[in-house]
Amino acid sequence: KSYSEPYRNQFHFSPSKNWMNDPNGLFYDDQTGLYHLYYQYNPEGNEWGNMSWGHATSKDMINWRQEPLAIPMLADQGWEDFVYTNTTGSLAKYGEVRYVGIPTTNWGDANGKKAIFSGSIYVDKNNVSGLGQNAILAFYTADYQIATRINDGKENGWGTWIGLNEIQEQHLAYSLDGGKTFKQYSADKNSAEPQPLIPVIASKGGDAANFRDPNVVYDQQNKQFLLTVVSNQQALIYKSVDLLHWEYASSIQREKNVGLGVWECPALIPLTVEGTKTTKWVLAISIQQGSHATGSGMEYYVGNIDHNGQWTPESTQTMANPMTMDYGEDFYAGIPFANMSNNRNVMLAWQSNWSYTGDAKTSPWYGNMTLPRELKLVKSSNTTDGYLLKNTVISEITHNEQADRIAPDDSSITPRDTEQKIEYSGNQYKLTADFSWDTKNPPTSVGFKLRASDDGKYYVLVGYDLTTKKFFVQRLNTGEAAMEAPRDKMNAIVDTANGTIKLTVYVDETSVEAFANDGEKSITQNFFMRPEKAEKQATNQLYLYVQAGTAHITGLKLNP
Ligand code: FRU
Repeated sequence: KSYSEPYRNQFHFSPSKNWMNDPNGLFYDDQTGLYHLYYQYNPEGNEWGNMSWGHATSKDMINWRQEPLAIPMLADQGWEDFVYTNTTGSLAKYGEVRYVGIPTTNWGDANGKKAIFSGSIYVDKNNVSGLGQNAILAFYTADYQIATRINDGKENGWGTWIGLNEIQEQHLAYSLDGGKTFKQYSADKNSAEPQPLIPVIASKGGDAANFRDPNVVYDQQNKQFLLTVVSNQQALIYKSVDLLHWEYASSIQREKNVGLGVWECPALIPLTVEGTKTTKWVLAISIQQGSHATGSGMEYYVGNIDHNGQWTPESTQTMANPMTMDYGEDFYAGIPFANMSNNRNVMLAWQSNWSYTGDAKTSPWYGNMTLPRELKLVKSSNTTDGYLLKNTVISEITHNEQADRIAPDDSSITPRDTEQKIEYSGNQYKLTADFSWDTKNPPTSVGFKLRASDDGKYYVLVGYDLTTKKFFVQRLNTGEAAMEAPRDKMNAIVDTANGTIKLTVYVDETSVEAFANDGEKSITQNFFMRPEKAEKQATNQLYLYVQAGTAHITGLKLNP
């Protein structure tokens, strides 16, 4: 039966079949009370390709309904003339390059089609675009390959063939039926749809193959719409007053060029600093390779936006010290929901990492989203950070929580150098506890041992190492080689000067989302328990552990 296959998470969104990556165009429809989730989807298979926008809806961002494909790939656009220029608008050195048609077999987008890459949605409540009251505007990247010739008059006047070029441009599609179906918008009003479809922000040369993932937000204070898009290792900001015409405003550079690791899926998020009336603009960025998580991971910076659409980092947070959004390996391409009520800021991310998607496979689908995270910006006592972006699982998760399975007598205990079994054999639960210790006899490590096999060979650890002051998740012992070496523990420093730490973990079939001190730090990790076939072991035992020393544990709670 669908959704009960091995390795299928039960309280995380995954498509019924086929490949999924980034969340796209997340928004809340206040007309219907529905949340919409679009996502990078391959309608044809269980590997990356034919990228289109899949779709799902929900009343609470936790329980989702699969909807039909929302934005399919664009049909062959026929022949296009194009002048290749660099990002400042001047002609590239090698002269005029003419794109003469789209070849029939391409990487990622067969038959000359244009793939629909990641992007965002803006709900046009006041019809500033003229496309319709409450029109749902989807800004996305069209990705395609073109045959390129230098227009030098050679080869019978067609120019000299110089090969294929990958091009990415920002397009707009809009929905007038509540996000079910989308019409393509052509920026040239005089041209017939869909041939040719003119992008709202065309490629201007430069690194045309890494110019993607537009994210649109309204800047209330300066009354301007902002579109942030990445271009290799920078983010470009465009501004607009009508959501249709976009003017280049400024750029943000990554501090160190690390070679690999283009920026992806940027988002500028206005957040009110908790307990104040100040708004700060968080720049959230995904790094494809070479992040803290070895492969893909997310970082953020805190800063300010001015009326020119220029973003500048806080003095406490220069571009040289990006903050980590989530310290695990499986929190990527996260963007916030648009059009939220009550000033809520909720982010959903793809729970995977480009470095092993091809190896750690599931079938007949691949990929799931993280749980939605409530974002809160707080002033941090740690002066080198200045601010801290906290994230916790949204409170709607309680819709799916059952009553606590831990007897009151067992919820406050003082174990010493031990592994204590928790009698629960299900694989989907929320587990939480406050750990504290005496400075005289502190343990070296405390936490939970999840999904343990009978012989003790397989397990996942979530804990706090007092000797290194690190909150960690370790998935070295799962039997899935692609998720083991060379990584050890994913971890984050947590200050426990007062001798306590609160750990909260959400465990699903192949996923653990662990939080320290109510979202001060989070670690999101996939794991695939794959004991060798011959061993045929169950991996569903759960333990609380205290290594050396004594810990005091209060508020131990397990909610299936
Ligand atoms: C991020 C990403 C985006 C791109 C999309 C393609 O995971 O590489 O930059 O738009 O995936 O599927």
